[in-house]
Formats: sequence, structure tokens, C-alpha cells
Amino acid sequence: MLLRIPNVLTPQELAQVRQHILGADWADGRITAGSQSAGVKNNRQLPEELPAAQQARHIVSVALARNPQFVTGALPKSVYPPLFNRYSGDANSFGSHIDNAVRTHAASARHVRTDIACTLFLSDAESYDGGELVVEDTYGEQRIKLTAGDLVLYPGTSVHRVEVVTRGERLACFFWIESMVRSDAQRRLLYDMDMAITALRRQDLAQNGQLDSGPLNSERSEVVTLTGCYHNLLRMWADV
Ligand code: NI
Repeated sequence: MLLRIPNVLTPQELAQVRQHILGADWADGRITAGSQSAGVKNNRQLPEELPAAQQARHIVSVALARNPQFVTGALPKSVYPPLFNRYSGDANSFGSHIDNAVRTHAASARHVRTDIACTLFLSDAESYDGGELVVEDTYGEQRIKLTAGDLVLYPGTSVHRVEVVTRGERLACFFWIESMVRSDAQRRLLYDMDMAITALRRQDLAQNGQLDSGPLNSERSEVVTLTGCYHNLLRMWADV
């Protein structure tokens, strides 16, 4: 499942993140690449131990935790602390690769299986040319270039690349998630079901004129049953 999530960062948070990281000391992007991807990776990356990286990471982590679409789409068990990269000038692309299956966080020695990859765009799409994230899936190539503050989430199993940036600069935050539900197909089913149940409940609230006044006193039995099915599927599939 490839999911675009708008407005993950508020304009204020976006400005703060950019302010923290833009003036910092960036390194060659190959500091976290595996041996195959090192050959095609040509960008810059913010060393994760820098105070600027820590501050920006904190803002992103808080924003992710409060975003219901992110939580239901990813069902996160463990999130690799967000990293930051930039593409401009001669360091301007990242050829086709699949991310390493397991990332080990250096500071904590914690392992994260990369079920899901995420890119949070930090540059206005109009401010640079090229730089599309291209994700290959069974329906063909998806070319993704989002507004600053928006996020895309896609399966870690996908071959992907970042096209050459030919003008301006592409600044982004990226990270991986180990999900409570390892299978992309199962996560997709749960996500669709959750979205449909949420829509049904909102329709019921609207019909009762209660859209702004909290939960219904009594839900329709069908909604209760479907909500139960969601949780019973999650119970069957979750590894926590
Ligand atoms: Ni990658």
C-alpha cells in the first residue's frame, strides 16, 4: 500500500525543522547505505547525532504520533529515528535500490525491521526540478513529489529511486517502521476497514446532528460488529 498523508507538519513545525537542519554540517549520504545502494546513492545526509538532527527529529516524531492516518496506515511497533537528506548540486540523486531489511540504531543497538519506508517532504515542490521519489509496484511506477509537510508511506519491499534534481534543492526526512502487522496486504485490509468504519460512524453522528459533540450514546449494532471484526483481525495478525 502506498499512502499519501497531507499536512503531517504544521507550517510552523515545517519552518522549525528547516531552520534546525539547513545550517548544520551535512555528510555524504553513503554513511547509512548498504553495499548495493552505496553504488547508486549520491546525496547528502545529516549525521544523526548532531543536536540539529535531534531537535528536528523530535518535532517530526511528535507530529507522527498525533496523526491518526499515519498510525492506522502504519500500525507502528517501532520507528527508526527519522533521518534527513538533501539533494542538490552534484549530490543530486539516488538510483534504484531496496532498503536494507533491518536497520540497527547505532545509539541504542535496537533493531528495526523495515516493513514500511516513509518520506516526509520538506521543500516546496515548485522550488526544485526533478527529485521525484519513484516507487515500483505491481501497478507500475508511482512518481511522487509532494507539498512540503506531506508524507508518503510505502512498503519496504519496493524497488525505489530518487530522480536527479536539476534545479534547486530537495530537502526531506526519511525513516522506516517495523509494523505490528508485518504483511502489507494485511495492513491494507485493516486500513481500508478502519477508514470505512470511521466514515460510517461519522455519517451516523451527522444524521443525529452530533458531529461536533463527541461519540454517539449507542452505535448501530452493525458498526459495533465491524469494529469488533477489525480488532479481531488485528489481534490475529499483530505481533507486539
Ligand atoms: Ni531507499
